Amino acid sequence: MSKFYITTPLYYVNDVPHIGHSYTNVAADTLARYKRMKGFDVFFITGTDEHGQKIERTAKQAGLPPQELADKVVERFKGLWERLNISYDYFIRTTSQGHKQGVRALFERIYQAGDIFRGHYEGWYCTPCETYIQAAKISEEKCPSCGRALEWLAEESYFFNLSKYQSQLLDYYKTCPDFIQPDYRRQEIVNIVESGLMDLSISRSNFNWGIPLPLEGSREVLYVWFEALINYISGCGFDNDIERFNHLWPADVHIIGKDILKFHTIIWPAMLFSAGLKPPKKVFAHGWWTVDGKKMSKSTGNFIDPHQVIDQVGVDAYRYFLLREVPFGMDGDFSQPGLIRRINSDLANDLGNLLNRVLTMIEKYYQSVLPSAGDQDGGPLKEVALKLIDDVDEAMDRLEFHRALELIWELVRRANQYIEETTPWRLAKEKSTQLNTVLYNLAESLRFIALFISPFMSAISKKILTQLGIREILSLQTVASLEQWGLLPEGLRICKGEPIFPRIE
Ligand code: MSP
Repeated sequence: MSKFYITTPLYYVNDVPHIGHSYTNVAADTLARYKRMKGFDVFFITGTDEHGQKIERTAKQAGLPPQELADKVVERFKGLWERLNISYDYFIRTTSQGHKQGVRALFERIYQAGDIFRGHYEGWYCTPCETYIQAAKISEEKCPSCGRALEWLAEESYFFNLSKYQSQLLDYYKTCPDFIQPDYRRQEIVNIVESGLMDLSISRSNFNWGIPLPLEGSREVLYVWFEALINYISGCGFDNDIERFNHLWPADVHIIGKDILKFHTIIWPAMLFSAGLKPPKKVFAHGWWTVDGKKMSKSTGNFIDPHQVIDQVGVDAYRYFLLREVPFGMDGDFSQPGLIRRINSDLANDLGNLLNRVLTMIEKYYQSVLPSAGDQDGGPLKEVALKLIDDVDEAMDRLEFHRALELIWELVRRANQYIEETTPWRLAKEKSTQLNTVLYNLAESLRFIALFISPFMSAISKKILTQLGIREILSLQTVASLEQWGLLPEGLRICKGEPIFPRIE
């Protein structure tokens, strides 16, 4: 069985989760579930980034020791992931012993490679982004990324010899064009690396909340990014379970937001090159969500709490909206009218009505027992359904979640259209034997739809399978079963339930 190792960024514990954070985890979870369904041995990790000056300051303001703040906030993340059905296999916290051990081991390798040296850092730093900023990139002492005030740092520190890896990085981008995704982001990174890299200051001395630099006599802590990136290997066996590590590494995909692409495609692979380890296979940067056209921020007070939206529309509709509304990679806008429009049209009207109409007719005309397919094959529905397996796979491999859903909805819409074309109510009146074929084909289409949507909306998928009466028949829920039309056995007992997606007013 092939492995598939998928990661999300580690979220800072200075703040509670918002829709932007949930976006990455819903996407990663959907991919993980899809790959599991395809038979991959999936390892999916997420977690929290708990060190650094930003967390230390937030803790001070809250009157708590930083570890207590982290212990509190981490529960908010875990709670949201549970509610969103995020099926992670491991949750990594950067304050855990396992992570610290991995960090020390990787540092040791980089040190032994001669890539760490003592120097002096003098320059700007953005604490909210935990990023060093080159003077040439700023105006008015504001961070070019978040717009907040910068601080001037002047301290002795250790450096990582990042510039040494310029040509190796450029070679890697060239030989593995899939490494930086979406494609349109690659050139941005190539340009940065081609223009020359500065060595990276990796230790800090003016605060304490971090992993101590593993060098004797040093009282500094490691730069939080240098340390946090290492989670991707400390979380999968480095350096305590080499067999496991060799099985899982390199990661198949790091899913991240576009703002942290440089860390993942320049600094991280260079650290791995230095340590003699392979770089990840792919880094995919998604876009950012705005709210009603504006950047989400605490000061504007337009933070969207995922729990509120889930209370309003339900978990699966929320997941669907995030992945369907915006092509993965592009920026998107969250608005109440947009949310309601999308859910009412795709979920309540298209899918909800389809299920309801089909099951109502089987109930009415066949006393809830699935009729036989008759002697016709599935016609237009079969054709659309059997194409899905390859087309959806291609879309999912490219992380084009919106496209995969669009393809699945072609079947949903085709099935609704098929009802209009075949007019089952008229066939019933005429007592035509055609009626059983039509209803059989519609029920079989719903089986395909339920299985294809399961990585996106697992609870709704189960509800549809239950209503179709096949929740317990596992052989009708495998990927292989999606390559064959007509597997639903005649005589199944349908159990129509409540509407799966009530309209939102
Ligand atoms: N701790 C670092 C990541 C370290 S990974 C080794 C970090 N944390 S973060 O909490 O600030 O951000 C985590 C992720 O949330 C990032 O991928 C970021 O892009 C994403 N988002 C934060 N706000 C967002 C939106 N408004 N929209 C979409 N994603 C956003 O960076």
